[in-house]
Amino acid sequence: MVTILTGTDRIGSRSSEIALILKGLYDELKAPAEIMELRDVGLTDLEPKHYGEGKPAKIEKAVDHLLKSDGLHLVVPEYNGSMPGALKLFIDHWKFPDSFEHRAVSFVGLGGRFGALRPVEHLQQVFGYRNSFIYPDRVFLTDIWTTLKDGELQDETAMALLKDQTQGFCRFIQALKGEKLLGSTPS
Ligand SMILES: Cc1cc2nc3c(=O)[nH]c(=O)nc-3n(C[C@H](O)[C@H](O)[C@H](O)COP(=O)(O)O)c2cc1C
Repeated sequence: MVTILTGTDRIGSRSSEIALILKGLYDELKAPAEIMELRDVGLTDLEPKHYGEGKPAKIEKAVDHLLKSDGLHLVVPEYNGSMPGALKLFIDHWKFPDSFEHRAVSFVGLGGRFGALRPVEHLQQVFGYRNSFIYPDRVFLTDIWTTLKDGELQDETAMALLKDQTQGFCRFIQALKGEKLLGSTPS
């Protein structure tokens, strides 16, 4: 199962609309996928004492769900030239190293002129540093205010790229699973 994680907790987020488009593409492929909304994982329950062990139940549940996923498909908007702070806060509360180590991750960025190139490349560093398997074909949705209308992408090329990405990510996961590389240390 793939978890599609929205990279912001903003109400009315376009990332949520992109996540729904991805979910539709996985459904077309009959590939199990679930959306995890960042605003629903319990970030507001977190206190400074919660780094490490003893996290609030809602956060534990969300992190455990990620651990059970075969792949993580992240939808990341650009906020102030970076990833949203809410996403980094969530990531900093994941189980280490299990949540990252040899896990399959794919990225969609959305934003203005650069389509969230900066946060996606920074996240590639974060996940690469933590030994994840990064699917190489990233998708950048530029000028998102005009590209996305009423939950639909107006740009056929962008839609085709998302379709290719979901198909390719499924094959990537299957190949890693076939070789028993997911979540384990390659010998
Ligand atoms: C707090 C904030 C900061 C933003 N900073 C940038 C930015 O640095 N570069 C950019 O291209 N777009 C920026 N934007 C525009 C967002 O990328 C765009 O509104 C996108 O839809 C945000 O994703 P969301 O709708 O899922 O929140 C910013 C938006 C917000 C809310």
